[in-house]
Amino acid sequence: MSDPASSHSIPCCLTVRDIRSLVAPWRQAGGRIALVPTMGALHEGHLSLVRQARQQAERVVVSIFVNPAQFAPHEDFSSYPRQLQRDLDLLQTVGIDAVFTPDAAVMYPAGFATTISMTGPAAAGLEDASRPVFFNGVATVVAKLLVQVAPDLAIFGEKDFQQLAVLKQLVLDLDLPVAVQGGPTMREADGLAMSSRNVYLSEPERAIAPALHHVLQNIKAGVAARQAVSPLIATAKTELEQAGFKMDYLVLRDAVTLGEWHGQLQGRLLVAAWLGKTRLIDNIAVDRVDTDRHIKD
Ligand code: PAF
Repeated sequence: MSDPASSHSIPCCLTVRDIRSLVAPWRQAGGRIALVPTMGALHEGHLSLVRQARQQAERVVVSIFVNPAQFAPHEDFSSYPRQLQRDLDLLQTVGIDAVFTPDAAVMYPAGFATTISMTGPAAAGLEDASRPVFFNGVATVVAKLLVQVAPDLAIFGEKDFQQLAVLKQLVLDLDLPVAVQGGPTMREADGLAMSSRNVYLSEPERAIAPALHHVLQNIKAGVAARQAVSPLIATAKTELEQAGFKMDYLVLRDAVTLGEWHGQLQGRLLVAAWLGKTRLIDNIAVDRVDTDRHIKD
C-alpha cells in the first residue's frame, strides 16, 4: 500500500492485493463494510453518499477510478476532471477508512478480455440510446470493484437513476452478496443537480442550467394536479429548447422497471439535454395521486 497524499491519514490502496489485505481483518472482526464507488472530482453529492454509508457501516471505503471502459471515444474521458489531492482533502472532512485508487493497468491488465453485457434496465432507451458503451463499462467496473472490496453495502447516487437500476439488476443477476442502495441527489441552491461535469459549464450556461430541474418540478406539479402528461412534457421540452438546451430525452417512466409509465404508483421523470458541450441529466420522483385515468396520455 502506498499513500499518494502523505499529508493524509486515510490509507490509499492502489492494488487489489492492498485493498483486500486492508479489508480482510475488518471483515473478520464482523463489522459492516460499505463501498462508495466514484470517479473522483468529488462534490457534496458524493460526500452525502459517504455520510449515508457511515450511518450503516463500521467501515467505509471510497473508490476513485475514472473508468475508460464507460466512455465512448468521442466522450470526455481525457478531459474528465481529475483532482485526487482535493478529493482526499474532502474525504478527510467526512471521515472514511480507506480510498481505493487503482489505475487502468490494475483494473484492466494486459490481456483483459471480459465485458459484462446487460439488457433490461440497461436497454431502457434512455442513457443507453446515446451512450451505447456506457452501461457495459459501468457494469464491468462495478462488478470488479464489488469483487475486489467485497462490501456488504454499495451506495450510488440517484442522480444517475438508470445506472442505479442497472446496478441493482447486476447484483441480482450475478448473485453478488451486496446490498445496492441509492442516495438522494444533492442540489445547488438554485436547484441544479450537483455533478462533476458542472465545471464544464460556462457562466451563461450555468445560469440557464437550473431550468432542467424547474421543468421537472413543473411536470410533477401538473401530474399532481391531474393534468395529462404528454402536453406537460411537450411544453417542458419547448421551454428547455427556447432556453438553449438541445434535448436528448424527457420522459416519465416506471420508477422500478424504467419501462413505460401507465399510471403506476411510482413514476420517475428523467431528462438528459445538452447545454453547449455539456450533457446534463436529472430526474425526480412522480408519485401517482390516484387511479384517475385522465392523468394518462
Ligand atoms: O457514477 C459513477 O461515478 C460511475 O459511473 C461509477 C459508478 C463509479 C462507475 O465507474
